[in-house]
Amino acid sequence: MRGRVVAIEANPRSAGRRDDATGSTMTSRDDWAAQTTSDAIAADEAPRMDGEVALVAGGGLSGPLGGVGFSIAWLCARSGASIAILDVDQEAGERAVDAIRSAGGDAAWFDVDVTDDGSVAAAVDGAVQRFGRLDHVADSIGGGGAVPIFDIDDAELERVMNLNFTSAWRVMKHSQKHLSHGGSIVTISSGATEGRGPAMPYTIAKTALEKLTVGASQTLAPRGIRVNGVRVGMIWGAFAARGMDEDMREIRRRNVALQTEGNVWDIASAAFFLLSDRARWVSGQVLAVDGGGFALKPTGAAGSAKPR
Ligand SMILES: NC(=O)c1ccc[n+]([C@@H]2O[C@H](COP(=O)([O-])OP(=O)(O)OC[C@H]3O[C@@H](n4cnc5c(N)ncnc54)[C@H](O)[C@@H]3O)[C@@H](O)[C@H]2O)c1
Repeated sequence: MRGRVVAIEANPRSAGRRDDATGSTMTSRDDWAAQTTSDAIAADEAPRMDGEVALVAGGGLSGPLGGVGFSIAWLCARSGASIAILDVDQEAGERAVDAIRSAGGDAAWFDVDVTDDGSVAAAVDGAVQRFGRLDHVADSIGGGGAVPIFDIDDAELERVMNLNFTSAWRVMKHSQKHLSHGGSIVTISSGATEGRGPAMPYTIAKTALEKLTVGASQTLAPRGIRVNGVRVGMIWGAFAARGMDEDMREIRRRNVALQTEGNVWDIASAAFFLLSDRARWVSGQVLAVDGGGFALKPTGAAGSAKPR
């Protein structure tokens, strides 16, 4: 459908009818379309975040393929939000800010190391001071830990948990204080949560992140704040491109049910929906964006197809 949808006017002749059985006044058939299409979701073409502020941890623009965080920041900026980019990489942070400003948006970079509590507190405070409010929070930082679980020491396990789980708890903890009714938070998990190896430390940390996401949604629901997550499938992006050649890339593609490769925009699109008020009644969910999951393989299970 093209063009702005205009709510259908109510028919002035249609008076409410009284239902004798219940004694309540029923709307007439003529009123129905007018009433239902006046809902913001029915009336608006795209979700808008004008006048709002979105904080994106890991929103720096790093590498030619970009990252999930930058893509989320970009979509929020395009919908009118001012963007606080929190990133440890100054160059990537400034590149993201430049890209958003060049497209007419408003953004600023804040130095942060999410593995350090004081650093997160200072960056969140800095963002709130700079923009005067906070409405949406996305945390895209994570990675590493794709190693056998018994081949690492305490320090390495702690490092992986810190980067993928504790850091998100810190970002939430410091930013939720500034959110009010209608505010939203999105975390970025991984399809590795469904795995049984070989990347167990990462799997465990991202599973903890998903539990945090769902738990935080319950904690914050009474304040009207929503919390959701996106579980990233085997997309081609900075994260994957760093450690993979074209052969591996093709194997990944064929292992996806839809037999296609996703990218950072597929993830950002879902995250943006969850951040926006289009998802105003969605909270405590982790949405897998993964091309339908793994492609079916012959397993030998009763009823399964024979290998060709
Ligand atoms: N790309 C994939 O294939 C894939 C698959 C599954 C899950 N994920 C998850 O998606 C998320 C984003 O992945 P990506 O590929 O966009 O990553 P990315 O590396 O492109 O972006 C991450 C950003 O976080 C910043 N950062 C890293 N450590 C930081 C720290 N300690 N403090 C502050 N900033 C820090 C980096 O500078 C970078 O700008 C991660 O949580 C990752 O685990 C990605």
